[in-house]
Amino acid sequence: MSEPYVAVVAGARPNFIKIAPVLHAVDKIRPPFSTVLVHTGQHYSAELSDVFFQQLGIRPPDIHLDAGSGSHGRQTARILEAFESFLMASPLDIAAVMVVGDVNSTIAAALAAAKLGKPVIHLEAGLRSFDRTMPEEINRLATDAISDLLLVSEPCGETNLRAEGVPPSRIRYVGNVMIDTLVAQLGAVESKTGGDESAAPFALVTLHRPSNVDSRENLTAVVEFLVRIADKLKIVFPIHPRTKSRLTDFGLTERLERAGAILLPPQGYIENLGMMSRAMLVLTDSGGIQEETSFLSVPCLTIRENTERPSTISHGTNTLVGLDFVKADALVDQIIAGSYKKGRPIPGWDGRAAYRVVESVSEFLALRHVIPPLSEVRN
Ligand code: UD1
Repeated sequence: MSEPYVAVVAGARPNFIKIAPVLHAVDKIRPPFSTVLVHTGQHYSAELSDVFFQQLGIRPPDIHLDAGSGSHGRQTARILEAFESFLMASPLDIAAVMVVGDVNSTIAAALAAAKLGKPVIHLEAGLRSFDRTMPEEINRLATDAISDLLLVSEPCGETNLRAEGVPPSRIRYVGNVMIDTLVAQLGAVESKTGGDESAAPFALVTLHRPSNVDSRENLTAVVEFLVRIADKLKIVFPIHPRTKSRLTDFGLTERLERAGAILLPPQGYIENLGMMSRAMLVLTDSGGIQEETSFLSVPCLTIRENTERPSTISHGTNTLVGLDFVKADALVDQIIAGSYKKGRPIPGWDGRAAYRVVESVSEFLALRHVIPPLSEVRN
C-alpha cells in the first residue's frame, strides 16, 4: 500500500510561521504519514515569503501554485482552481489537507479539498471576531464549516465552535503553534541582538488591515497619533507593501519622516521578533502580533475595534484601542510610566503545540483507518 500524505497548504506570511513547527514536529515524531508542502503563491516577494522559509528552516515547497495578488475573488479563485488541479492530478495518496489561519489561501484550498471529498484539517480553528466586514472572518467561518478536524489555538475557539453546533468529537485543543516558532527562534534573536542595551526606548508599529490603511481618513488619524508618540518615544515602522502604497497615495510618508520615524521595509521573522521583544510598546492591527506580544509580556495596543483572539486581552498584554486615540494616548503614558497591565500564561502556549497537532492528525487518520494507531506504530 502506498504511504498516505497530508497536504500542508501555506500562502501568506503568517501561514509560514504556523506550518514551520508542524513540519519540524513531523520530522521528529515520524508518524506513519508524510507531508506534501504546497505554497499557493499568495505572498511571493522575498521579504514576505522566502525569508521566512530560510529563517524558520522550512523545506522548499514541493508544489508551487503561483497564484499571486489580485482582488479577493480572483486570488481565491486562482488558488481554488490550481489546488483542485493538483489534487486531481497528484499520483500521491493524499489522505487529508491541512490549512492554517484565515487568509484567502486557507479557504480556497479547503474548498477545493472538501469538494473532492478530501478531509480538511483546519489549524487555528474557531477564532471569531464577529465582524463580517473583515475578509479573514469570512475565511474563518467558511473554512470551519467545511473542516473535518478543527485544531484550536486558544480557549475561545472551543466555545465558538460548540456554539455553532460543531460536534465535540471534531474539535481538539492543541494550543498555539505561532508560539512554538517564537520559542524556537528566541535563541537566534538573542544571539543576533545581544549587547544592544544602548538603544533608546521605542514603539514598534505594524499596520496592514484594509480598514486602517485603505481609508485616507483613518490612515491620517493613525499617522497623527504616531507623530504625537514620536515626541515621547522613537517610532520604528516596518511597512507592509499595501500600507506603503497607501502612505504614498495619501501623501503621508513625509509627515512620518519629518517626525523622525524610522521607516523600514518588511522585516524577516528574526529581525521582527528581535524588535518586538525589545520594544517598550507595540502598536499593531495584526492578529499574530497580539499573540506574540502577550507571550513576550510586551504591551500591545491594537488599532482594531475587535479581536478574534480575546485571550490576549483577558490574559495577555493587549488592549483594543480602535481609532480612539484619546484612549490610546492615555495608555501610551501608562506604558511609559510602567503602570500598564502585565500578562499571565495562556493554556497551550508552551512551545509544544505542534506535537499535539501531529498527535491529533495521527489519531484522526487512524480513526479513518488510513494509518495504524500511533500506539501500535511505537510498540
Ligand atoms: C494577507 C491576508 C491577511 C494577513 C496578511 C499578512 C487575506 C484576505 N489577507 O493580507 O489576513 O494578515 O496577508 O501579510 O488573505 N504584495 C507584495 N508582495 C507579496 C504579496 C503581496 O508586494 O508577496 C502586495 C500586493 O500589492 C498585494 C498586496 O500586497 O496586492 C496585498 O497582498 P494580499 O495577499 O492580497 O493581502 P495582504 O494585505 O498581504
